[in-house]
Amino acid sequence: MTSTIHATTPIEGQKPGTSGLRKKTPVFMRPMYLENFVQAIFDGTGGAQGKTYVLGGDGRYFNDRAAQVILKMAAANGAARVIVGQGAILSTPAASHLIRLNQTDGGIIMSASHNPGGPTEDFGVKFNMPNGGPAPESVTEAIYACTQRMHEIHMITASDIHLDKIGRVRLGEMIVDVVDPVADYAALMESLFDFRAIRAMVAGGFRMRFDAMCAVTGPYATEILEKRLGMEPGTVINATPLQDFGGHHPDPNPTWAHVLMEEMFTPNAPDFGAASDGDGDRNMVVGRNIYVSPSDSLAVLAANAHLAPAYKGGLKGIARSMPTSAAADRVAKALGVECFETPTGWKFFGNLLDAGRCTICGEESFGTGSDHVREKDGLWAVLLWLNILAVRGESVAHIMHAHWKRFGRNYYSRHDFEAIDTRHADAMMSALKASIPTLPGTEIEGMSIASADDFAYHDPIDGSVSRAQGVRIKFDDGSRIVLRLSGTGTEGATLRLYLERYEPDATKQDLDPQEALGPVIRAAHALAGIKEQIGRDRPNVIT
Ligand code: G1P
Ligand code: ZN
Repeated sequence: MTSTIHATTPIEGQKPGTSGLRKKTPVFMRPMYLENFVQAIFDGTGGAQGKTYVLGGDGRYFNDRAAQVILKMAAANGAARVIVGQGAILSTPAASHLIRLNQTDGGIIMSASHNPGGPTEDFGVKFNMPNGGPAPESVTEAIYACTQRMHEIHMITASDIHLDKIGRVRLGEMIVDVVDPVADYAALMESLFDFRAIRAMVAGGFRMRFDAMCAVTGPYATEILEKRLGMEPGTVINATPLQDFGGHHPDPNPTWAHVLMEEMFTPNAPDFGAASDGDGDRNMVVGRNIYVSPSDSLAVLAANAHLAPAYKGGLKGIARSMPTSAAADRVAKALGVECFETPTGWKFFGNLLDAGRCTICGEESFGTGSDHVREKDGLWAVLLWLNILAVRGESVAHIMHAHWKRFGRNYYSRHDFEAIDTRHADAMMSALKASIPTLPGTEIEGMSIASADDFAYHDPIDGSVSRAQGVRIKFDDGSRIVLRLSGTGTEGATLRLYLERYEPDATKQDLDPQEALGPVIRAAHALAGIKEQIGRDRPNVIT
């Protein structure tokens, strides 16, 4: 077995986005593409010599072959040990947990999250830090800088390792521990929640449907929901992970998880429904006849977390990404705890969690999590909901209505305009940013603009500043419009338009969100000139 240095040249565009480097799979499969980026991860984080890593992915097409390359490169770069999920599979939250549990020097996760997978779809690689969380901007910048001067990669020449068999093997000098991807994660969940109370609820006739969307959560959900919590076999559907996710978008939202949505709105619907994404960090929850928006879910989980054993001492604080609705802020105020507004992307929560300033965090994009790991965690959110339902003994609809009555309802929706021309998208955002100083005081759709800015985040822990995180327009009645361009898309640009309106009156909290948000939607189109700038006046995904 020999370690070889292969000459290479920098490859353009290897700049990590909101969550690692994501590209079309054929791009990742080009000669040296993956190799250059992996070498940059090692070089940009002080080298791999003597280090221990976790490695796994969501099982999408190319996951298995990429794992072999990464292992051979880790060995050639001097890594001491790599802990790999069996079959090179690990959900993102399970990888985060393994990094922390084994006190490793970080981990490499192969995933493009909720993006479709397959030979012509998406692939991705991201580096997570020793705290289990995604690398912060300073580190992704360092990795990117390394890609720009890449001239050699290190890789041993060896035959592939059998990753299907649990146990310890050697690759050159390096130890490879192939582990059960589910066991440690399931044990962690059991330590956080009252499984006995949930089992009792299930024994009492409670029914659930979990759509794993042919993605990585299938084995996790089957083990936890069916085996440990006693739900009937078949509770988890689309439970077998497929390399192309069955040709679907493994994205748990009403558009892509419409089969689950339809079932939940039938007369004989289960009591609770949930879905998760490609790599298992996102979740959608839905009650019988009621959809729970992610922003509301965060608020309800925060307000009721004390009902679960892990959080019975209360929350240290709540953090949400800027585009997420202010519903959680109202809960934080009522609980008397700190509330943080961070830029889009889970990496910004890490410092707050590490410093013990917040316990629960969430994003409007179907992401919720807590300080138990440093990633958002789909099954965690589902289990916290189940714990709350078991203790309160009430339906999801009842809990939602009671919540809105107490805190008011933040009507909320996100409109996505996908695959638009990048130049048009940039021009639109530039024009909008240029208009910011003129906006305050403007009357539109019967509302008055109170403030407008391009969001900049000052990290209270390390003092770093992240600018240009999205344009916020706030109205004096509490309504809000946010516009930003996606950092995870792989085709053209995606404009995300976030819309919010606050309704304190309990007699007006049962409207369809699109209807309730009508004036805010019209104001957004008028202020940003969406049709004129990007040539489209309708979003293609509404969540
Ligand atoms: C999207 C979501 C964001 C999430 C990220 C990774 O990023 O909007 O909240 O953290 O995916 O799952 P975006 O494409 O908007 O940059
Ligand atoms: Zn994901």
